[in-house]
Amino acid sequence: MTISYFKRFRMEIDLTGGTLAPAAPAGFFWEAWSDSLLSVHAEVKYQCFRNELDARVFPNLGDREGCARLMREIRNKPGFLPGATWLIAGPQGYCGTVQGVVDRGPIGAIQNVGVIPYYRGVGLGRALVAKALVGFQSAGLDRAYLEVTAQNTRAVNMYRAIGFKKVKTLYKAIEAFERLA
Ligand SMILES: CC(C)(COP(=O)(O)OP(=O)(O)OC[C@H]1O[C@@H](n2cnc3c(N)ncnc32)[C@H](O)[C@@H]1OP(=O)(O)O)[C@@H](O)C(=O)NCCC(=O)NCCS
Repeated sequence: MTISYFKRFRMEIDLTGGTLAPAAPAGFFWEAWSDSLLSVHAEVKYQCFRNELDARVFPNLGDREGCARLMREIRNKPGFLPGATWLIAGPQGYCGTVQGVVDRGPIGAIQNVGVIPYYRGVGLGRALVAKALVGFQSAGLDRAYLEVTAQNTRAVNMYRAIGFKKVKTLYKAIEAFERLA
């Protein structure tokens, strides 16, 4: 067995500054949380993460049933925040997901944000994060955080562009069985 370490950043944002504007890009619309959408969030999460680096860091993300399990866990957290949990959809169906919870502090915690590959690069990721941040603001929170794998430059760039700042570097250990030749 080998152990790999993935460098991760904790990034935080101050929510007291101004009002965020989470407009959905033209042609896309928001779908607010309801318990009946749990399996939709899980499926969209799976479609977003299945071939991504984070599916190596968190194997549940690369597995349909794992994503369903993760969504149930998020939904059952005491701080689960429907106002920071959204789907974004276009004419062909759901394209992205974000979930938020209130952590000890209290501070808003973005759990997972993902956009299905075909829909990337048009502003949906940025809009999803902004929408979750407005949900935290509406819940009276003045800070939010997330953790991101350092090699995930697309996500790190997006969070920086939104205003998140790195506050801590963490290392996540992953056990992997060596393949014998
Ligand atoms: C990270 C992710 C959510 C971004 O979604 P997206 O819809 O493509 O993002 P946006 O179109 O809103 O772009 C937002 C910012 O991301 C960055 N970005 C987008 N595409 C990029 C690319 N190809 N290369 C580098 N940076 C990029 C830019 O900073 C961009 O800001 P800009 O619009 O001012 O240029 C998406 O790539 C994704 O789902 N990745 C897989 C799941 C994942 O890793 N989630 C993050 C977990 S922490």
